[in-house]
Amino acid sequence: MLSGKKVLLGITGSIAAYKSSFLVRLLIKHGAEVKVILSPSARAFVTPLTLATLSKHPVLWEFYDPDDEEGKWNNHVDLGLWADMMIIAPATASTLSKMVSGSCDNLLMGVYLSAKCPVYFAPAMDLDMFKHASTQDNIKSLQSFGNTYIPTNSGELASGLIGEGRMAEPEEIIDFLLMDLQKGLPLNGKKVLINAGPTYEAIDPVRFIGNHSSGKMGVALAEAAHRMGAAVHLVVGPNSVVPTEKAITVQYVVSALEMKEACDAAFKDADMTILAAAIADYRPINVATQKIKKKGEAPVIELVENPDILAGLGSIKNENQVLIGFALETNNGIENAIAKLHKKNCDLIVLNQPSENSGFGADTNKVTLIGKDEKQVELSLKTKVEIAEEILHHSINTFYP
Ligand code: CTP
Repeated sequence: MLSGKKVLLGITGSIAAYKSSFLVRLLIKHGAEVKVILSPSARAFVTPLTLATLSKHPVLWEFYDPDDEEGKWNNHVDLGLWADMMIIAPATASTLSKMVSGSCDNLLMGVYLSAKCPVYFAPAMDLDMFKHASTQDNIKSLQSFGNTYIPTNSGELASGLIGEGRMAEPEEIIDFLLMDLQKGLPLNGKKVLINAGPTYEAIDPVRFIGNHSSGKMGVALAEAAHRMGAAVHLVVGPNSVVPTEKAITVQYVVSALEMKEACDAAFKDADMTILAAAIADYRPINVATQKIKKKGEAPVIELVENPDILAGLGSIKNENQVLIGFALETNNGIENAIAKLHKKNCDLIVLNQPSENSGFGADTNKVTLIGKDEKQVELSLKTKVEIAEEILHHSINTFYP
């Protein structure tokens, strides 16, 4: 969730400033890009060299460098606009008070006042300073301005006293940020079940009936749903791509019957289910236990129809569950997709008409979304990642407005 986020870390003059080096490392480990700004007094506690090395960006603390003959200006407005989020950690009593009054006597305050992104602050100070009515008022005022307070810990303080006022540990700050970011996501609290890839229907121990599905569309959906805050359970067929995101639960299956068992079991807890897998419609009635040998004449393999997983889920879904199917059609696309939507009791169907640049294996796709009311939204040719995001945005707007 912090991956790709541009984070401005403001460090002010507290003994807790040394912990901010660890915070830089953790933010970067989570995939964030970090720029550090120091208040002038923070330089007494941490060195710009350490922080610049860790963040791989120059560390700034003045509006301009008086020794720089070219007179380069550190533009606080640009820095404020660059950031997706700003964290001031540690935030001293003095900085809290400046933030409340809007005092702009250093670069960090200029950036704070210019920042359009969410701002988090993690105070650090001695317990009596922390308890003081003015500090408590400042924290409340900053929250009322829309800033987010990262609560302090209670424990041993630099003064030797024991009490409230310790800055949250870097790991706690990261956990706090992750939880806070999660809260704002549109699928926060939702469980999403997705299936992807082909199924293989065994003929004998070495042969099967299968198809060319790569699983890319289903996996793109799983990753997009995860980015939007959902708890995602993905059931994947053999030889499918798999998500890189570790938080997605992945269940591996081979045959249609195994896929049905896995989807049926996960369905009862799912708020939203998206069946993107290319499930084999038929399987051999008998699976030979030994490799079938050539006998001079072509063998006849008798097939039996596989259960329709989507139709099965459609018949038991409750009114709070959202069910989304795919329809792979080569002709009469709209008509066939609408028929499938109603027959399988879906809330939305994604019509996929394979062509040169879309369908199995391709990185792009061209789909039409069709709702229960038969309203159609045609999406242009896009990457499967973009299509996945559009399907989910459309579903969120339709089902969780
Ligand atoms: N599907 C399913 N179980 C099956 C076959 C398909 O759950 N045994 C699901 C697919 O995952 C997809 C939807 O049903 O979400 C439509 O699949 P598709 O292959 O387009 O259609 P079929 O129902 O198999 O019909 P046909 O092959 O005749 O077009």
